[in-house]
Amino acid sequence: MCGIMGYIGTQSAQEILLNGLEHLSYRGYDSAGVAVQKENRLQIVKTRGRIDLLRQKCQDTPLDGTLGIGHTRWATHGPANDLNAHPHTDARGRIAIVHNGVIENHAQLRQMLTARGFVFRSDTDTECAAHLLRLLYDGDMLRTLLLAARYLTGSYAIAALCADDPSALYCIRSGSPLILGTREGESYLSSDIPALLPYTRELTVPEDGEAAVLRRSGIYLFSAKGQRRRAQTFHVSWDMQSAEKGVYPHFMLKEIHEQPQALHSPPIIRKLPARAPSQAVLLGCGTAYHACLLGAYYMERLAGIPAFPEIASEYRSRIAFPYRDCACIAVSQSGETADTISAARMAKARGAVLVTLTNTLGSTLERMSPAALLTPAGPELSVASTKAYTAQALALLQLALRWGRMRGTLQEALSEQQLLHLPHWAQEMLSSSSAIQAYIEPRADQPLFFFIGRGADAVTAREAALKFKEITYTPAESYPAGELKHGAIALIHEGMPVIAICTQPEWLHKTLVNLSECRARGAECVCFCLPHMEKDAREAADHVFVLPDMPPLLAPIISVIPLQLLAYYAACKKGLDVDKPRNLAKSVTVE
Ligand code: M6R
Repeated sequence: MCGIMGYIGTQSAQEILLNGLEHLSYRGYDSAGVAVQKENRLQIVKTRGRIDLLRQKCQDTPLDGTLGIGHTRWATHGPANDLNAHPHTDARGRIAIVHNGVIENHAQLRQMLTARGFVFRSDTDTECAAHLLRLLYDGDMLRTLLLAARYLTGSYAIAALCADDPSALYCIRSGSPLILGTREGESYLSSDIPALLPYTRELTVPEDGEAAVLRRSGIYLFSAKGQRRRAQTFHVSWDMQSAEKGVYPHFMLKEIHEQPQALHSPPIIRKLPARAPSQAVLLGCGTAYHACLLGAYYMERLAGIPAFPEIASEYRSRIAFPYRDCACIAVSQSGETADTISAARMAKARGAVLVTLTNTLGSTLERMSPAALLTPAGPELSVASTKAYTAQALALLQLALRWGRMRGTLQEALSEQQLLHLPHWAQEMLSSSSAIQAYIEPRADQPLFFFIGRGADAVTAREAALKFKEITYTPAESYPAGELKHGAIALIHEGMPVIAICTQPEWLHKTLVNLSECRARGAECVCFCLPHMEKDAREAADHVFVLPDMPPLLAPIISVIPLQLLAYYAACKKGLDVDKPRNLAKSVTVE
């Protein structure tokens, strides 16, 4: 939520900030702005709307200078308008800041600052930090920033410029992501790695509570007490193309098509415990939670390990039993989801061994976990998660196999050869894109869709419905097929699409009966099934899509792909902004 970018060096700051913000715009796109320092003056341009509007404004008023900060906003406090756009400044325009996160005590700070004569111009929580810096400023910006942090509660990554100091850029983080990068004569900061890839792959992440001073000569880290810490860099191997759309019209389509590659290699493992646990809690939000559901299915089915998937934001309200011999698997593409981080902390405090499954090296979750699995999916920039999900599902399956072998409880064998075939099945699935497009386009304006399935297929149905709602803005329900007749079947009406996923032979006939029940009430029924199920499926469904011939245990990793395409083509047909759906942001760093 919100992206910040900062630069100090020898090139035009404006250009680097605008390019960086474009890469970060998946984090929020309500408004955008930049501040560039020229000698002892701060110049600011900001606007409601997206980066292209900001770029236009900057063309009218070019900002000259080689030191600056920028922001792209996902509104939390106050509507998306010019006034609420960042950067925010103190009253004299001498200190400018950009902020990602939420300052939870902003109301008290606002009251205190107003009483001291500070006048607020925006509705944002951020503006109080700008005035607070002015109140505390003693000529040393680093000291001021560290002092101000003592008054701020909540989560923040803040970058600041001070007109008195044209040779440095300042930043501090607590609970929000902040990546620093450097190369000869230049230093950068950003909320995420892809924005830095055109410039450098040597990166540093400040610890929570740390501040940094970025100079042309390099990056200097300081603890909350002001003690200098040597910056440790790490190298990212993601290439530039992985953060560009290339020949695809949208990142989402590109990322759907990258799934064969994402399923090609196993996750990179960092320090997994030598013993398998006797139970597992899996935590995640949204699509990552759906991966948890599938992961729990694999843990129990393959490894005989009791597994409990939990929505991270709900987990915190669960009664706190201490855990013994329990792994907590925190699943998050970004590794920055605030709810997942908080829930993982809680599980850790309850005694679970924390294992993070993430796509993002250097993310908060990765860094706070003693053990991690890194999915090899490459950067995922479309707000709708696709390749991260299939990579997470495979990683959890592999973890279940590993733990099942270790415990001697492996219930069902899957050969390496079968796993190696996943990219081919994914590719085969992608080649049926045009059939999916042809089916959905004439139905894109239907007011309601139902996705149903049983067992692992019920998980795929949930993920399909989430994807559909998220990017088409059409109500889409997902139901375990057997649950429909306990209430939701009342919603079925003439011509309504009901889409069944059938990959588990033991549930085929029951699901098909449920589909027939919908058809009898006027629904238009669709079935995605394995080849040997086709004949039966045709009896119950109006349209049948045959999936590749694969083992049912692996099918949930592949069967989601046509459903991602279904949502994608429906959203395109409706002319919607597929990569940046309304009201959303890629990385949800507020609770
Ligand atoms: O970065 P994370 O995997 O922790 O994100 C979790 C959810 O916010 C995310 O999966 C969200 O549900 C997606 N936009 C769904 O496509």
